[in-house]
Amino acid sequence: MDNLFDVAVIGAGPGGYVAAIRCAQLGLNTVCIDDWKNGQGKSSLGGTCLNVGCIPSKALLESSENFERAGHKFAEHGIKVDGLSVDVPAMIARKDKIVKAFTGGIGMLFKKNKVTALHGRGMLQKRGNGEDNWEVRVSTDGQEQSVHARYVIIATGSVPRTLKVAPVDGINVLDNAGALALQQVPEKLAIIGAGVIGLELGSVWRRLGAGVTLLEAQADFLPAADEQIAKEAYKALTRETGLVIHTGVEIKSTRAGKDKVEIEYVDHDKNTKNITVDKLIVAVGRVPVTAGLGAEETGLQLDERGYVSVDQFCQTNLPHVYAIGDVVRGPMLAHKASEEGVAVAERIANQQKNAHSSAHVNLEMMPWVIYTAPEIAWVGKTEQALKAEGVSYKAGQFPFMANGRARALGETTGFVKVLADAESDRILGVHMIGPYVSEMIAEAVVAMEFSASSEDLARIVHAHPSLSEALHEAALGVDKRAIHL
Ligand code: FAD
Ligand code: NAI
Repeated sequence: MDNLFDVAVIGAGPGGYVAAIRCAQLGLNTVCIDDWKNGQGKSSLGGTCLNVGCIPSKALLESSENFERAGHKFAEHGIKVDGLSVDVPAMIARKDKIVKAFTGGIGMLFKKNKVTALHGRGMLQKRGNGEDNWEVRVSTDGQEQSVHARYVIIATGSVPRTLKVAPVDGINVLDNAGALALQQVPEKLAIIGAGVIGLELGSVWRRLGAGVTLLEAQADFLPAADEQIAKEAYKALTRETGLVIHTGVEIKSTRAGKDKVEIEYVDHDKNTKNITVDKLIVAVGRVPVTAGLGAEETGLQLDERGYVSVDQFCQTNLPHVYAIGDVVRGPMLAHKASEEGVAVAERIANQQKNAHSSAHVNLEMMPWVIYTAPEIAWVGKTEQALKAEGVSYKAGQFPFMANGRARALGETTGFVKVLADAESDRILGVHMIGPYVSEMIAEAVVAMEFSASSEDLARIVHAHPSLSEALHEAALGVDKRAIHL
């Protein structure tokens, strides 16, 4: 291997592997260094997202939702199912097969695009005086090698935040990886943290039959979401999905025995409570990975929370060194990581040609999706944020109950809400809870990226009957002219 590259990418999650492919497409000689090992001890590209995050969780959400439908929803369609049962190992094997296909697929994409893949842990080092003279030392199972590069993209991602009072043992106290690999349904499952992972994985195991209790520190449920959406979500997830959610709790201790885990916590009324469960999942957020990266040695600046400090273009304080994805500020989302990867690749390619590039990612237009049932999705400002900022706005809202397609699906919980500036009518935020809103939110993102007004959306033809008509009607509702309400 010629060890001199234009770009060295450290990390092959959705940030790093996308950055590497885009660099290569733009004619840059690129190496991507990644240390992920799968359960068989083999290199597995794709980082958290493909190995233990987005993809496996969605595979299990789909499988468990099918089980839920067959058990509880088919009957109203006149479909009778006798002797329904679930084969958890088969479900997990299907999920593993999907993960294997995708992680292997990245290897193929690297080959096709002539990205050099190196398995091992990368550490950044300065090589000489020039601004574009970087070295990445790569250790692979005790063996060391070096690559040299003019540019470096750090995409080392994140790992689960740990809790002193609930150490993960991988047997009965699990993080997201363990929670995606259970071979049987626990009778009782507790989850510390009612955030995105808690709600998604809690839904999976609840639908498969576990009694699931979520213990959340914050007093408010889903505070990042629009308050009205969070309220509707709480109602649906507790009443329809059957999750038990306690907010405002403080975990005092956990004790993992051979088969059970005892948890002591103080509830929001300051009463001490104890529960005993078969499995405990700890899902209290994630922290950026910078250990062993050479930050101190090279003077790479980290912020007070441990993220690599970057400007709006993902440039670090070191020349020719960029950082993207979960390891930098902003939401920890795969699509955010990937788009930052593309933007940085384009900036580097332009710099090589001494051309100007304004490539960057608009964090204000980041879609969020929580893949529960009903799904939750939003983009832009919440109503509470607009109020806090003193922005005057108009709101239009439409329930799925009045949408023909939702009725046909039998999925009528939820609504769509459009928030628009009171004077200009420019859309400021769109919030959805309901069936397949993960797909519907894309229309709102496009509209907002093009600075659309609610009237623009209201005047666009939407197919009938489709769920997207709920967005159309909500946009009409901003001007108080929804038709079907
Ligand atoms: P990562 O995916 O974490 O990849 C970083 C890679 O770098 C890893 O392979 C790591 O081993 C490697 N690495 C770290 N340090 C070094 C080093 N020094 N040398 C070499 N390699 C190194 N996001 C969504 O948008 N949608 C979802 O539905 C979604 N679902 C999720 C479900 C779960 C259960 C979890 C845990 C996360 C989910 N996420 C989801 C978040 C998403 O996975 C992350 O935002 C995304 O993976 C971040 O990408 P990244 O490239 O920044 O980092
Ligand atoms: P999160 O930040 O979404 O939720 C963590 C929750 O744990 C918070 O509500 C927090 O208040 C709570 N918490 C923290 N400390 C606690 C304590 N000591 N006791 C009780 N509760 C405590 O983080 P989560 O769920 O771990 O997910 C990490 C990130 O992964 C998400 O923020 C998101 O960026 C990403 N993700 C995205 C998904 C998607 O896009 N659909 C799915 C899953 C994860």
